[in-house]
Amino acid sequence: MRPYLLLVSEPDPSPSPHKRRVRYAGKNPRRFEQKYKEHNPQLYAETVQKVIASGKTPAGMHRPIMVAEIMEVLAPQPGEIAIDCTLGYGGHSKVLLARVQPGGRLIALDADPIELPKTTARLQALGYDEAAFSAHRSNFAGLPKVLAHEQLKGAHCILADLGVSSMQLDDPTRGFSVKLNGPLDMRMNPQRGIPASTLLAKLKAAELALLLEDNADEPKAKPLAQALAGQTLNTTSQLADAIRAELPRLPSEDQDLTLRRVFQALRIAVNEEFSALDTLLRVLPQSLLPGGRVAILTFHSGEDRRVKKSFVVGLRDGLYSEIAEEVIRPSAEERNANPRSASAKLRWAIKAE
Ligand SMILES: C[S@@+](CC[C@H](N)C(=O)[O-])C[C@H]1O[C@@H](n2cnc3c(N)ncnc32)[C@H](O)[C@@H]1O
Repeated sequence: MRPYLLLVSEPDPSPSPHKRRVRYAGKNPRRFEQKYKEHNPQLYAETVQKVIASGKTPAGMHRPIMVAEIMEVLAPQPGEIAIDCTLGYGGHSKVLLARVQPGGRLIALDADPIELPKTTARLQALGYDEAAFSAHRSNFAGLPKVLAHEQLKGAHCILADLGVSSMQLDDPTRGFSVKLNGPLDMRMNPQRGIPASTLLAKLKAAELALLLEDNADEPKAKPLAQALAGQTLNTTSQLADAIRAELPRLPSEDQDLTLRRVFQALRIAVNEEFSALDTLLRVLPQSLLPGGRVAILTFHSGEDRRVKKSFVVGLRDGLYSEIAEEVIRPSAEERNANPRSASAKLRWAIKAE
């Protein structure tokens, strides 16, 4: 018996099976919580396939990105130990799990206490027992602790697919999306840290300007920071309106890009994403077995710069024997089929023997 299967103290927040379905006006549900068919892919597979075929991500689901490319660089083999640092909906984990059987193990981590139990249950329902699969509610900066709990010296393959999942992005109550009104929260783990609204209210203009520049290369960081810092903005719509009000003469497409950058910068700050990534990059070589492979999927330049630099320095210092010379991008087909893959960049490294 493993010491534990799942480090989750919170109860499973999935709705009770007896709860009445949310009513909606018109022919089709529009709101995230009303899309009950998309939330139940086992029961409504046809609806879910139709949504995917239209290039959209069904509500409550995440489509894994660059699966074939990631499997090629990680090359998981039967009997190996794989780690998924960012379990999400479990799309990559499901493939990794199948590839390391028979005899292998997948250890998955995710910071999100809301989605983790649902994904864990979904993967367990595929028949993987605790010897094959264990999930930890943990920040990936804590990877060495998770390995120690699992009594492992390291892994053959490690994957990190950074950023937020579609479940987090599309759920208005999580406050990640510029397009959906909800509380201005943005925490991957709502039980830790402070929501984005509290951060905005606390920050001085100079601090916010720095944050917008560092986290999103925002060209209008200073005037925006002047307008937003110290404000009480409790919802995503209030923040979006305040940004638009500051840039009245900007064409609407440029306003939208600014909104996305400001939301991204705040999300990175709220979740301390860069410091978590820096820690992960630092502990990666010690977490890989000799010859072990790591793949990291990034979604903006701030992340990619860090991964590239760490791999280049690791190669120079003899920690890695080989690293990706060029970044790998999703195919045109994947970008068309799943627009959320468009900004993805994949890098890999191999631990020295
Ligand atoms: C892009 S999604 C992963 C999707 C997943 N690969 C799949 O196929 O469904 C990113 C996930 O990483 C988690 N995450 C982001 N930063 C994290 C961190 N520092 N530690 C642990 N989990 C993190 C998020 O909660 C989210 O579930």
